[in-house]
Parts: sequence; structure tokens; C-alpha cells
Amino acid sequence: MDYSVFDSFPILETSRLLLQAYEVQDVNDIYLLNSDSVIMTYLDKAPAKNKVEILTKIKAIQKDFEEHRGINWTIKMKGSSEVIAYFGMWRIDHTNHRAEIGYALKPDYWRKGIIHEAACEVFDFAFNKLQVHSIMANINPANIASERLLKKLGFQKEAHFREDYFYDGKYLDSVIYCLLTSDWS
Ligand SMILES: CC(C)(COP(=O)(O)OP(=O)(O)OC[C@H]1O[C@@H](n2cnc3c(N)ncnc32)[C@H](O)[C@@H]1OP(=O)(O)O)[C@@H](O)C(=O)NCCC(=O)NCCS
Repeated sequence: MDYSVFDSFPILETSRLLLQAYEVQDVNDIYLLNSDSVIMTYLDKAPAKNKVEILTKIKAIQKDFEEHRGINWTIKMKGSSEVIAYFGMWRIDHTNHRAEIGYALKPDYWRKGIIHEAACEVFDFAFNKLQVHSIMANINPANIASERLLKKLGFQKEAHFREDYFYDGKYLDSVIYCLLTSDWS
């Protein structure tokens, strides 16, 4: 992998979008993304309770970048200051040159190709610049939107774990999707 990508935060750009580092001034939008009950439906983690929690999260995300553990972007439409989404390689596995992704978008913007567009740019960066070998996603199998998005991006289903995840008093299934560098090139 090429660690020089961590020298300064890699801002990415697509025809419609700007992908940038998490900043404290984005706290309100990031709070919405982490607390909206529609967005959180299949994320299977507790919604953020307040903005103090988000400020702590922003600091942790900045530290993850400094320590090469993750690269997490906020997403804005060009010309707008509103953070409408996030997309992250939030867990980078240095031994196996692998990254796990996570993403979410405000519901007003769904089905406009936004996360597909952002993902294509992130994957070009991940495979060609950072030089990971594989990218994985762990989803709740009921999350049809996320599953179809991953399939459209070329991911293959590699595992279905039954009731391996305990959240909110229930044992939930997990499905693992993966994209190899050879699938992308
Ligand atoms: C999953 C999510 C990020 C999709 O973002 P999006 O920008 O609306 O997706 P796109 O418009 O780029 O869609 C790309 C493809 O994904 C699939 N897709 C997206 N949303 C879908 C939906 N609601 N139902 C069925 N398929 C869907 C389609 O195949 C679509 O291609 P098409 O429009 O040509 O048919 C968005 O629904 C979201 O934020 N959900 C809540 C958070 C979440 O679940 N994150 C993932 C956790 S694993």
C-alpha cells in the first residue's frame, strides 16, 4: 500500500460532488446523518444522542486518519455547504491490504445516483492510489438498497452469517460483500 496518501487528506471530486475531511463546522449535518431514524433503520447501532457525541466522533475520525486506520469523507453537492452524506473506508486492514466501507445519505437525496458516483471515485482512489487489494461491506440482509448498490458496483456476496450480531435485544444476520482490485480494473 502507498502510505504517502496519508501525507495530507485526499479531497476527492466527481462531476456533482465534493468529498472532504470531517470538520467541526459540519457537526449539525453529521448529527442528522447519525440520528435520523430512516437512515439508521438497518445500521444496527444506536442513533447519536446529541452533538457532543458527534464532536467526539469527528475527533476520533480525524485521529483515525492521522494514525492510518481509516479515511472518512463527508459529501457535499458542489456549490453547497450542506453535508448530505458520508462515505468511509472506516477500517483499514494493513496486513491484508483490505478496507471496510460504510456510507449513508440524507433521504431527500436517495435514488439520484449520489452514493454510486461517490463510491466509484473512492474505489479508484482506494485501488489505484492507496492500493488496497480488496474492499468489503458488512450489511444487514434486509437492507435491499445497500445490497443492490453493492451489486451494481460489482461486489460479490461472499458470506451470510446467521445471527452473529447482537443488537437491541435481537440476534441479527450479517452478509459480507467484497470487491477485489481485479474486479474493478
Ligand atoms: C444505501 C444508500 C446509501 C443508497 O444511496 P443512493 O445514493 O440512494 O443510491 P444510488 O442512487 O447511487 O443507487 C445506486 C443503485 O443502488 C440500488 N438502490 C439504491 N437505493 C435503492 C432502493 N431504495 N431500493 C432498491 N434499490 C436501490 C439501485 O440498484 C441503484 O441503481 P439504479 O438507480 O440504477 O437502479 C441510501 O439508501 C442510504 O443512505 N440508506 C441508509 C443508510 C444505509 O443503509 N447505509 C448502508 C449501510 S450498509
